[in-house]
Amino acid sequence: MLPSETGIDGWLRYAALPDELASRHPQYSTIISLADDQCSPVFTAARELQLGLSKILSQNVTLETKLLVSAASSYIVIGTVKTFLSAGRDEYENLPLKDDGYCLVCKDGKATEIIGQNDRGALYGAFEFLRFLSRNQLLPEMRISNPSAPIRWVNQWDNLDGSIERGYAGPSIFFADGYVLDDLTRVQQYARLLASVGLNGLIVNNVNSNYNLLNPINMQGLTRIADIMRPWGVRIGVSLYFDTPKGLGGLRTSDPLDPDVIAWWGYITSELYRHVPDMLGYLIKANSEGQPGPLTYGRTLADGANMFARALQPHGDGVVMYRAFVYNHHLDESDWKNDRANAAVEYFDGLDTQFEDNVIVQIKYGPIDFQIREPPSPLLAHLRKTPIILELQVTQEYLGQQDHVVYLPPLWKTIFNFDLHVDGQQSLVRDIVSGQRFNWSRSGYAAVVNVGNDPTWLGSHLAMANLYAYGLCTWDPQQSEEDIIQGWAQLTFGLDKTIVDTITNISMASWPTYEDYSGNLGIQTLCDIVTHCHYGPCPASQDGNGWGQWTRADAHSIGMDRTVATGTGNAGQYPQVVAEQFECIDTTPDELLLWFHHVPYTHRLKSGKTVIQHFYDAHYAGALVAQTFPQQWEALRGLIDDDRFNHVAFRLRYQAGHALVWRDSINNFYYAKCEIKDERNRVGNHAWRIEAEDMTLEGYMVVPVTPFEAASGGKAIATIPGADIGTAQCTVTFPSGIYDIAINYYDHLGGRSQYQVFLNERLIGTWTGDLEDKLGHDFSDRIDGHSATRVTFNKVNVKKGDSLRIVGRPDGSELAPIDYVSLLPPGIVD
Ligand code: GCU
Repeated sequence: MLPSETGIDGWLRYAALPDELASRHPQYSTIISLADDQCSPVFTAARELQLGLSKILSQNVTLETKLLVSAASSYIVIGTVKTFLSAGRDEYENLPLKDDGYCLVCKDGKATEIIGQNDRGALYGAFEFLRFLSRNQLLPEMRISNPSAPIRWVNQWDNLDGSIERGYAGPSIFFADGYVLDDLTRVQQYARLLASVGLNGLIVNNVNSNYNLLNPINMQGLTRIADIMRPWGVRIGVSLYFDTPKGLGGLRTSDPLDPDVIAWWGYITSELYRHVPDMLGYLIKANSEGQPGPLTYGRTLADGANMFARALQPHGDGVVMYRAFVYNHHLDESDWKNDRANAAVEYFDGLDTQFEDNVIVQIKYGPIDFQIREPPSPLLAHLRKTPIILELQVTQEYLGQQDHVVYLPPLWKTIFNFDLHVDGQQSLVRDIVSGQRFNWSRSGYAAVVNVGNDPTWLGSHLAMANLYAYGLCTWDPQQSEEDIIQGWAQLTFGLDKTIVDTITNISMASWPTYEDYSGNLGIQTLCDIVTHCHYGPCPASQDGNGWGQWTRADAHSIGMDRTVATGTGNAGQYPQVVAEQFECIDTTPDELLLWFHHVPYTHRLKSGKTVIQHFYDAHYAGALVAQTFPQQWEALRGLIDDDRFNHVAFRLRYQAGHALVWRDSINNFYYAKCEIKDERNRVGNHAWRIEAEDMTLEGYMVVPVTPFEAASGGKAIATIPGADIGTAQCTVTFPSGIYDIAINYYDHLGGRSQYQVFLNERLIGTWTGDLEDKLGHDFSDRIDGHSATRVTFNKVNVKKGDSLRIVGRPDGSELAPIDYVSLLPPGIVD
């Protein structure tokens, strides 16, 4: 049996190569670090090489800091261009390296030299060398690699109390109870993971910031965080709350033009630099979702950003990351012209030339909010002078919250590779972001990552592929997403072909699958947005409120009319070629149809299907693919350690069940709205299903479910308040045979109900409603699309006339709720 693994090392496990492979690599004698400062990333790299060689090749190699080696030995030298030149290695003088780039030189298949353009570059080169080794690949004679963009940062949405906004993997590794944690071991491990994929900056706290971050104790805490991350080449920055001068400073205003406010931020900034001399700068969320900002004081967004920028300028190269996520969340849906997607361009209109040089506008990839599919934000085409940071999410806020596997690079690529045709010239988003298109020297990427203190970091082993891929994509956005997942699978789980193929297949299918069973054709994810969970299905929550994530679905038609001719004009915010494409239904790709157009459900897509039939078919197809994930994963049993195997298997089984919840919720919702039947008659017809409300109940009662589509038939059963047990019984009318018995029930906060299922007097299975202890997504406290879930007991011998009985024992406010039972013959997916 393979030794159990927690996932704490992520892709940096350095699994030992089998002897016959290890013996083909040189026997290294020495690692020479051209830096002897133990805090330097070069020294960190040398130590990492030492660790890697001992684990991967079982070689115990000494570490030296002087270039004294005989030409015959197999050594590794690591340093910067500058230190190599000082050691007399003039041949490295004109290497074509950019900041953070590196060159790997492999001499006669024996010695290796790792030359970083700077300290960080050397570290990145070392990690690349170790990737080659771990994957049993041979190094080329010379490999030069440069990052696509200088800014490759992560954002943590960690709160001082230790919670993490949109975090699904336990509490913060940075904060607890109002302060920076004493024990920062996990922070160091995180820095190592980030550095290993070329990430060089981190914003430590939530964009919805708390000014207590700036108290003297926390400032010292920031020093400790920065000190721990610095040897890994990761610099830190902070998110600031705009009204801090009033809240913490006791000033009467936070007006960005007020001299006292300016002086106060100047003081705070000096203090921060005293504690963190290489601070990256400030991330600012202002005038967004109830946060104060310059508009609160009658000033422009540029006035606000520039106030912070000027405070930073005397201290070095610090930047203001000013978020473009500025919008009114009390928008009136009754006005057909209103559109949240227009907000960023409208708010930043005319400001491009108004910002200080150290202001960077941080823009989410789409105009709304990390949805399953969006066009690129039109603001990406509007700034010429002001550089940008493209904001992505590794945390899967709207994409299954790590309890559904969704490998994100295929989604990111739709943005990176989009040609915005700015000024009639090719303008790929990735070239805008890299700075190449508009000659910016400082621009790049940020991803909201939100790791927590769970040993898996993100709550799911497979989700870690997204953090790894984020690093690699920022380094080279053209790298194939398939190559990335293959490399990650090898490093994380092993070189075996079955392992790599299985993980690659599941991952590559995962995003289209999730899109299929959530929101199609650009209608957004369709999860519940009003309960704040952003997880389970609830399409009605998109409309009828001020958040502006509208679908405008009525009995006949659906979609946002974003055309200039008859709609919100959003299509016209894109450069002409793109605007013309989106203005016209015929040239809008089907996958974004409902993002840009309001059409009848009977509108025919380019595929020939109607919109509604596409919805039905996609949901059936997606949910079906999700059923195959646990089966595919089964191939890895015994090939990887049991702990990680079971952890993933459990999640994939859960996902398969929740995918059916999604399928039925969305299909039932739109069927109820438009009353157009599924051509294949699947929607609402479930031949093998027994509704709990149709069973004989004792101690249970029938309850209506809100939203109705979260329950089969709109109803469920829950134990009668005060009862400590409930029974639901029925007589099986299906033909005798072998069936999988699937029970859909609800698992929400408030208790851990217990269940038993019997066939006659035979106990078939038991389970507990304790998913809140096992999964990481946001839970609700009631029966709904978040809590709807399924448990299955396979291959049960059932006879016609058998008595099927479910016994539920409620706990706390969770009243052992049940939706339905399915008896599924082999091969049938309900
Ligand atoms: C989303 C998310 C919030 C977050 C916000 C932001 O709306 O749900 O939790 O604060 O984005 O990016 O600022």
